[in-house]
Amino acid sequence: MESKEIQKIIPFDDLWENLDKLEERLIDVSSSNDEYLSSISQYLIKAGGKRFRPIISLLSGKFGDEKNYINKIIDAGVAVELIHIGSLYHDDVMDNATTRRGVESSNSKWNSNLSILAGDYLLARSSELAAENLGLESVKLLASTYAELVEGQTKELNLSFNLDHGVEDYLKVIEGKTASLIRTSARLGAIASNADIEIIDALSEWGWNCGIIFQISDDILDLTSDEKTLGKPSGNDILEGTYTLPVLIALEMNRGKYEDILKSIQNEEVEINSVINEFTTDEIISNSKDIINDYFSKSIESIFELKNHSLFPVLENINNYLINRTN
Ligand code: IPE
Ligand code: IPE
Ligand code: MG
Ligand code: MG
Repeated sequence: MESKEIQKIIPFDDLWENLDKLEERLIDVSSSNDEYLSSISQYLIKAGGKRFRPIISLLSGKFGDEKNYINKIIDAGVAVELIHIGSLYHDDVMDNATTRRGVESSNSKWNSNLSILAGDYLLARSSELAAENLGLESVKLLASTYAELVEGQTKELNLSFNLDHGVEDYLKVIEGKTASLIRTSARLGAIASNADIEIIDALSEWGWNCGIIFQISDDILDLTSDEKTLGKPSGNDILEGTYTLPVLIALEMNRGKYEDILKSIQNEEVEINSVINEFTTDEIISNSKDIINDYFSKSIESIFELKNHSLFPVLENINNYLINRTN
Protein backbone atom coordinates (compact mmCIF):
# COMPACT_ATOMS: atom_id res chain seq x y z
CA MET A 1 0.00 0.00 0.00
CA GLU A 2 1.63 3.16 -1.19
CA SER A 3 0.96 5.93 1.29
CA LYS A 4 0.61 8.42 -1.58
CA GLU A 5 -2.22 6.39 -3.05
CA ILE A 6 -4.05 6.14 0.24
CA GLN A 7 -3.60 9.90 0.67
CA LYS A 8 -5.41 10.39 -2.62
CA ILE A 9 -8.27 8.21 -1.42
CA ILE A 10 -8.49 10.08 1.90
CA PRO A 11 -8.00 13.67 0.74
CA PHE A 12 -8.18 15.40 4.12
CA ASP A 13 -5.11 17.44 5.06
CA ASP A 14 -6.15 17.59 8.70
CA LEU A 15 -6.21 13.79 8.91
CA TRP A 16 -2.61 13.60 7.69
CA GLU A 17 -1.58 16.35 10.12
CA ASN A 18 -3.24 14.39 12.91
CA LEU A 19 -1.35 11.31 11.80
CA ASP A 20 1.89 13.27 12.38
CA LYS A 21 0.72 14.04 15.93
CA LEU A 22 -0.13 10.38 16.34
CA GLU A 23 3.44 9.49 15.38
CA GLU A 24 4.74 11.67 18.20
CA ARG A 25 2.30 10.08 20.65
CA LEU A 26 3.42 6.60 19.58
CA ILE A 27 6.98 7.47 20.52
CA ASP A 28 5.98 9.19 23.80
CA VAL A 29 3.77 6.38 24.97
CA SER A 30 6.25 3.63 24.09
CA SER A 31 9.27 5.24 25.77
CA SER A 32 10.73 3.36 28.68
CA ASN A 33 13.17 4.63 31.30
CA ASP A 34 15.19 1.64 30.25
CA GLU A 35 16.88 2.82 27.07
CA TYR A 36 17.71 -0.70 26.00
CA LEU A 37 14.04 -1.68 26.11
CA SER A 38 13.04 1.49 24.23
CA SER A 39 15.59 0.78 21.53
CA ILE A 40 14.01 -2.61 20.87
CA SER A 41 10.33 -1.77 21.37
CA GLN A 42 10.55 1.41 19.29
CA TYR A 43 12.55 -0.25 16.55
CA LEU A 44 9.51 -1.37 14.54
CA ILE A 45 7.62 1.84 15.30
CA LYS A 46 10.46 3.79 13.72
CA ALA A 47 10.75 1.34 10.84
CA GLY A 48 7.49 2.76 9.47
CA GLY A 49 4.55 0.71 8.29
CA LYS A 50 1.43 1.86 6.54
CA ARG A 51 -0.39 2.93 9.73
CA PHE A 52 -3.52 1.54 8.16
CA ARG A 53 -5.27 0.92 11.48
CA PRO A 54 -4.74 4.38 12.99
CA ILE A 55 -5.72 5.96 9.67
CA ILE A 56 -9.02 4.08 9.97
CA SER A 57 -9.43 5.35 13.56
CA LEU A 58 -8.80 8.94 12.47
CA LEU A 59 -11.25 8.59 9.61
CA SER A 60 -13.92 7.09 11.87
CA GLY A 61 -13.36 9.98 14.27
CA LYS A 62 -14.73 12.25 11.57
CA PHE A 63 -18.18 10.71 12.02
CA GLY A 64 -18.65 12.31 15.44
CA ASP A 65 -17.58 15.50 17.16
CA GLU A 66 -14.06 15.41 15.80
CA LYS A 67 -13.10 18.95 16.85
CA ASN A 68 -13.84 18.49 20.54
CA TYR A 69 -12.47 14.99 20.83
CA ILE A 70 -9.47 15.03 18.52
CA ASN A 71 -6.93 14.11 21.21
CA LYS A 72 -9.04 11.16 22.24
CA ILE A 73 -9.41 10.07 18.61
CA ILE A 74 -5.64 10.27 18.12
CA ASP A 75 -5.09 8.16 21.23
CA ALA A 76 -7.56 5.59 19.91
CA GLY A 77 -5.31 5.32 16.86
CA VAL A 78 -2.20 5.08 19.04
CA ALA A 79 -3.77 2.30 21.11
CA VAL A 80 -4.66 0.15 18.10
CA GLU A 81 -1.31 0.68 16.37
CA LEU A 82 0.52 -0.32 19.57
CA ILE A 83 -1.48 -3.53 19.68
CA HIS A 84 -0.79 -4.13 16.02
CA ILE A 85 2.96 -3.58 16.39
CA GLY A 86 3.07 -5.65 19.58
CA SER A 87 1.46 -8.49 17.66
CA LEU A 88 4.01 -8.09 14.84
CA TYR A 89 6.90 -8.63 17.30
CA HIS A 90 5.22 -11.82 18.43
CA ASP A 91 4.22 -12.87 14.92
CA ASP A 92 7.79 -12.61 13.67
CA VAL A 93 8.95 -14.92 16.45
CA MET A 94 6.20 -17.40 15.58
CA ASP A 95 6.95 -17.20 11.85
CA ASN A 96 10.73 -17.15 12.18
CA ALA A 97 10.71 -13.99 10.09
CA THR A 98 13.91 -12.36 8.93
CA THR A 99 12.48 -9.07 7.68
CA ARG A 100 9.67 -6.75 8.76
CA ARG A 101 8.71 -3.33 7.48
CA GLY A 102 11.67 -3.39 5.12
CA VAL A 103 14.23 -3.91 7.88
CA GLU A 104 15.71 -6.90 9.64
CA SER A 105 13.07 -8.35 11.99
CA SER A 106 13.68 -7.87 15.70
CA ASN A 107 13.90 -11.61 16.40
CA SER A 108 16.69 -11.77 13.87
CA LYS A 109 18.43 -8.55 14.96
CA TRP A 110 18.17 -9.29 18.70
CA ASN A 111 16.49 -12.56 19.61
CA SER A 112 13.11 -14.13 20.29
CA ASN A 113 13.08 -13.48 24.03
CA LEU A 114 13.66 -9.78 23.60
CA SER A 115 11.10 -9.59 20.79
CA ILE A 116 8.47 -11.20 22.99
CA LEU A 117 9.22 -8.73 25.75
CA ALA A 118 9.16 -5.76 23.37
CA GLY A 119 5.77 -6.91 22.06
CA ASP A 120 4.46 -7.35 25.61
CA TYR A 121 5.70 -3.90 26.51
CA LEU A 122 3.78 -2.23 23.68
CA LEU A 123 0.63 -4.17 24.51
CA ALA A 124 0.93 -3.07 28.14
CA ARG A 125 1.43 0.57 27.14
CA SER A 126 -1.61 0.38 24.89
CA SER A 127 -3.77 -0.79 27.81
CA GLU A 128 -2.37 1.89 30.05
CA LEU A 129 -3.10 4.61 27.50
CA ALA A 130 -6.62 3.34 26.93
CA ALA A 131 -7.32 3.22 30.67
CA GLU A 132 -6.03 6.77 31.09
CA ASN A 133 -7.68 8.42 28.11
CA LEU A 134 -10.29 6.29 26.40
CA GLY A 135 -12.58 4.92 29.10
CA LEU A 136 -13.64 1.51 30.31
CA GLU A 137 -15.66 0.50 27.24
CA SER A 138 -12.61 1.00 25.02
CA VAL A 139 -10.27 -0.76 27.46
CA LYS A 140 -12.57 -3.77 27.41
CA LEU A 141 -12.89 -3.65 23.64
CA LEU A 142 -9.12 -3.58 23.14
CA ALA A 143 -8.67 -6.50 25.53
CA SER A 144 -11.35 -8.64 23.86
CA THR A 145 -9.97 -7.74 20.44
CA TYR A 146 -6.51 -8.86 21.41
CA ALA A 147 -8.00 -12.10 22.71
CA GLU A 148 -9.65 -12.61 19.30
CA LEU A 149 -6.37 -11.88 17.55
CA VAL A 150 -4.60 -14.49 19.66
CA GLU A 151 -7.38 -16.99 18.91
CA GLY A 152 -6.85 -16.39 15.18
CA GLN A 153 -3.08 -16.74 15.44
CA THR A 154 -3.44 -19.94 17.48
CA LYS A 155 -5.89 -21.42 15.00
CA GLU A 156 -3.51 -20.65 12.15
CA LEU A 157 -0.67 -22.44 13.95
CA ASN A 158 -2.91 -25.36 14.77
CA LEU A 159 -3.84 -25.70 11.09
CA SER A 160 -0.37 -25.32 9.64
CA PHE A 161 0.50 -27.96 7.05
CA ASN A 162 -3.00 -29.38 7.56
CA LEU A 163 -4.40 -30.55 4.23
CA ASP A 164 -7.85 -31.27 5.61
CA HIS A 165 -9.11 -27.83 6.38
CA GLY A 166 -11.14 -25.57 4.16
CA VAL A 167 -12.16 -22.03 3.40
CA GLU A 168 -14.41 -21.82 6.48
CA ASP A 169 -11.44 -22.46 8.79
CA TYR A 170 -9.33 -19.97 6.87
CA LEU A 171 -11.99 -17.31 7.27
CA LYS A 172 -12.08 -17.94 11.02
CA VAL A 173 -8.31 -17.48 11.16
CA ILE A 174 -8.28 -14.19 9.31
CA GLU A 175 -11.31 -12.86 11.15
CA GLY A 176 -9.37 -13.32 14.35
CA LYS A 177 -5.88 -12.34 13.35
CA THR A 178 -6.75 -9.37 11.14
CA ALA A 179 -10.42 -8.36 10.90
CA SER A 180 -10.93 -8.06 14.65
CA LEU A 181 -8.34 -5.31 15.06
CA ILE A 182 -9.35 -3.41 11.92
CA ARG A 183 -12.98 -3.50 13.10
CA THR A 184 -11.84 -2.21 16.49
CA SER A 185 -9.74 0.51 14.85
CA ALA A 186 -12.89 1.86 13.21
CA ARG A 187 -15.03 1.37 16.31
CA LEU A 188 -12.60 2.97 18.73
CA GLY A 189 -12.19 6.10 16.60
CA ALA A 190 -15.96 6.49 16.32
CA ILE A 191 -16.47 5.90 20.05
CA ALA A 192 -13.77 8.44 20.89
CA SER A 193 -15.51 11.04 18.72
CA ASN A 194 -18.79 10.42 20.55
CA ALA A 195 -20.54 9.38 17.33
CA ASP A 196 -24.09 7.98 17.41
CA ILE A 197 -24.31 4.31 18.28
CA GLU A 198 -25.84 3.41 14.89
CA ILE A 199 -22.84 4.97 13.19
CA ILE A 200 -20.41 3.23 15.56
CA ASP A 201 -22.01 -0.12 14.75
CA ALA A 202 -22.08 0.52 11.01
CA LEU A 203 -18.42 1.53 10.95
CA SER A 204 -17.49 -1.53 13.01
CA GLU A 205 -19.22 -3.80 10.52
CA TRP A 206 -17.54 -1.99 7.65
CA GLY A 207 -14.16 -2.37 9.41
CA TRP A 208 -14.75 -6.09 9.89
CA ASN A 209 -15.40 -6.64 6.20
CA CYS A 210 -12.56 -4.29 5.29
CA GLY A 211 -10.23 -6.38 7.48
CA ILE A 212 -11.22 -9.58 5.71
CA ILE A 213 -10.68 -7.93 2.32
CA PHE A 214 -7.34 -6.60 3.57
CA GLN A 215 -6.09 -10.06 4.58
CA ILE A 216 -7.40 -11.96 1.55
CA SER A 217 -5.78 -9.46 -0.80
CA ASP A 218 -2.56 -9.69 1.22
CA ASP A 219 -2.69 -13.47 0.86
CA ILE A 220 -3.28 -13.29 -2.89
CA LEU A 221 -0.38 -10.85 -3.22
CA ASP A 222 1.88 -13.29 -1.35
CA LEU A 223 1.45 -15.55 -4.38
CA THR A 224 1.11 -13.11 -7.25
CA SER A 225 3.54 -10.36 -6.33
CA ASP A 226 7.32 -10.36 -6.51
CA GLU A 227 9.90 -10.40 -3.75
CA LYS A 228 10.89 -6.79 -4.34
CA THR A 229 7.35 -5.50 -3.79
CA LEU A 230 6.59 -7.85 -0.89
CA GLY A 231 9.83 -7.37 1.01
CA LYS A 232 9.89 -11.16 1.49
CA PRO A 233 10.05 -14.06 -0.93
CA SER A 234 6.77 -14.78 -2.72
CA GLY A 235 5.09 -18.03 -1.84
CA ASN A 236 6.28 -17.62 1.72
CA ASP A 237 2.87 -18.60 3.16
CA ILE A 238 2.89 -21.97 1.39
CA LEU A 239 6.45 -22.66 2.49
CA GLU A 240 5.48 -21.81 6.08
CA GLY A 241 2.56 -24.26 5.83
CA THR A 242 -0.01 -21.47 5.97
CA TYR A 243 -2.54 -22.48 3.36
CA THR A 244 -4.40 -19.35 2.36
CA LEU A 245 -7.50 -18.85 0.24
CA PRO A 246 -6.05 -19.56 -3.25
CA VAL A 247 -4.46 -22.77 -1.95
CA LEU A 248 -7.67 -23.93 -0.27
CA ILE A 249 -9.68 -23.13 -3.38
CA ALA A 250 -7.21 -25.11 -5.49
CA LEU A 251 -7.61 -28.07 -3.11
CA GLU A 252 -11.38 -27.85 -3.49
CA MET A 253 -11.01 -27.88 -7.27
CA ASN A 254 -8.62 -30.82 -7.54
CA ARG A 255 -7.67 -32.31 -4.20
CA GLY A 256 -5.48 -35.13 -5.51
CA LYS A 257 -3.34 -32.94 -7.70
CA TYR A 258 -2.84 -30.11 -5.24
CA GLU A 259 -2.27 -32.35 -2.22
CA ASP A 260 0.56 -33.99 -4.16
CA ILE A 261 2.09 -30.61 -4.92
CA LEU A 262 1.89 -29.49 -1.28
CA LYS A 263 3.32 -32.78 -0.03
CA SER A 264 6.16 -32.57 -2.54
CA ILE A 265 7.21 -29.25 -1.02
CA GLN A 266 7.55 -30.89 2.36
CA ASN A 267 9.35 -33.94 1.07
CA GLU A 268 11.78 -32.74 -1.53
CA GLU A 269 13.42 -29.75 -3.06
CA VAL A 270 10.97 -28.12 -5.42
CA GLU A 271 11.22 -24.90 -7.27
CA ILE A 272 8.84 -22.54 -5.47
CA ASN A 273 8.08 -20.57 -8.65
CA SER A 274 6.63 -23.61 -10.35
CA VAL A 275 4.50 -24.28 -7.27
CA ILE A 276 3.32 -20.67 -7.32
CA ASN A 277 2.35 -21.02 -10.97
CA GLU A 278 0.17 -24.01 -10.11
CA PHE A 279 -1.69 -22.01 -7.45
CA THR A 280 -2.14 -18.84 -9.47
CA THR A 281 -4.09 -20.03 -12.47
CA ASP A 282 -6.74 -17.63 -13.77
CA GLU A 283 -9.48 -19.83 -12.37
CA ILE A 284 -8.04 -19.98 -8.84
CA ILE A 285 -7.37 -16.26 -8.67
CA SER A 286 -10.74 -15.42 -10.14
CA ASN A 287 -12.52 -17.68 -7.61
CA SER A 288 -10.53 -16.02 -4.82
CA LYS A 289 -11.55 -12.61 -6.08
CA ASP A 290 -15.21 -13.67 -6.15
CA ILE A 291 -14.94 -14.20 -2.39
CA ILE A 292 -13.34 -10.79 -1.92
CA ASN A 293 -16.15 -9.26 -3.95
CA ASP A 294 -18.75 -10.86 -1.65
CA TYR A 295 -17.06 -9.11 1.27
CA PHE A 296 -17.00 -5.89 -0.67
CA SER A 297 -20.79 -6.12 -1.11
CA LYS A 298 -21.16 -6.88 2.60
CA SER A 299 -19.00 -3.89 3.50
CA ILE A 300 -21.23 -1.61 1.44
CA GLU A 301 -24.39 -3.10 2.93
CA SER A 302 -23.03 -2.49 6.41
CA ILE A 303 -22.76 1.25 5.79
CA PHE A 304 -26.02 1.51 3.89
CA GLU A 305 -27.41 3.99 6.43
CA LEU A 306 -24.43 6.24 5.79
CA LYS A 307 -25.16 6.36 2.07
CA ASN A 308 -25.81 10.09 2.10
CA HIS A 309 -22.87 10.90 4.33
CA SER A 310 -20.10 12.85 2.61
CA LEU A 311 -17.54 10.26 3.80
CA PHE A 312 -19.39 7.27 2.32
CA PRO A 313 -17.39 7.28 -0.94
CA VAL A 314 -14.14 7.32 1.04
CA LEU A 315 -15.10 4.14 2.89
CA GLU A 316 -16.10 2.56 -0.40
CA ASN A 317 -12.88 3.63 -2.09
CA ILE A 318 -10.66 2.23 0.65
CA ASN A 319 -12.07 -1.24 0.09
CA ASN A 320 -11.96 -0.77 -3.65
CA TYR A 321 -8.32 0.16 -3.38
CA LEU A 322 -7.50 -2.91 -1.27
CA ILE A 323 -9.12 -5.10 -3.90
CA ASN A 324 -7.49 -3.36 -6.86
CA ARG A 325 -4.06 -3.93 -5.35
CA THR A 326 -4.41 -7.57 -6.39
CA ASN A 327 -5.02 -6.75 -10.09
C1 IPE B 1 0.73 -6.92 8.59
O1 IPE B 1 -0.08 -5.81 8.66
C2 IPE B 1 0.07 -8.05 9.29
C3 IPE B 1 -1.21 -8.43 8.68
C4 IPE B 1 -2.30 -8.50 9.39
C5 IPE B 1 -1.25 -8.77 7.25
P1 IPE B 1 0.18 -4.55 7.77
O2 IPE B 1 0.25 -4.96 6.34
O3 IPE B 1 -0.82 -3.50 8.09
O4 IPE B 1 1.63 -4.09 8.24
P2 IPE B 1 2.27 -2.65 8.45
O5 IPE B 1 1.63 -2.06 9.67
O6 IPE B 1 2.00 -1.82 7.22
O7 IPE B 1 3.73 -2.91 8.65
C1 IPE C 1 0.30 -11.32 10.87
O1 IPE C 1 -0.01 -12.26 9.99
C2 IPE C 1 -0.96 -11.13 11.68
C3 IPE C 1 -0.75 -10.57 12.98
C4 IPE C 1 0.33 -9.97 13.36
C5 IPE C 1 -1.85 -10.71 13.90
P1 IPE C 1 1.02 -12.85 8.94
O2 IPE C 1 2.06 -13.65 9.59
O3 IPE C 1 0.14 -13.51 7.94
O4 IPE C 1 1.60 -11.52 8.28
P2 IPE C 1 3.04 -11.12 7.83
O5 IPE C 1 3.23 -11.69 6.48
O6 IPE C 1 4.00 -11.66 8.83
O7 IPE C 1 2.99 -9.62 7.81
MG1 MG D 1 4.10 -13.36 9.78
MG1 MG E 1 1.84 -15.13 11.07
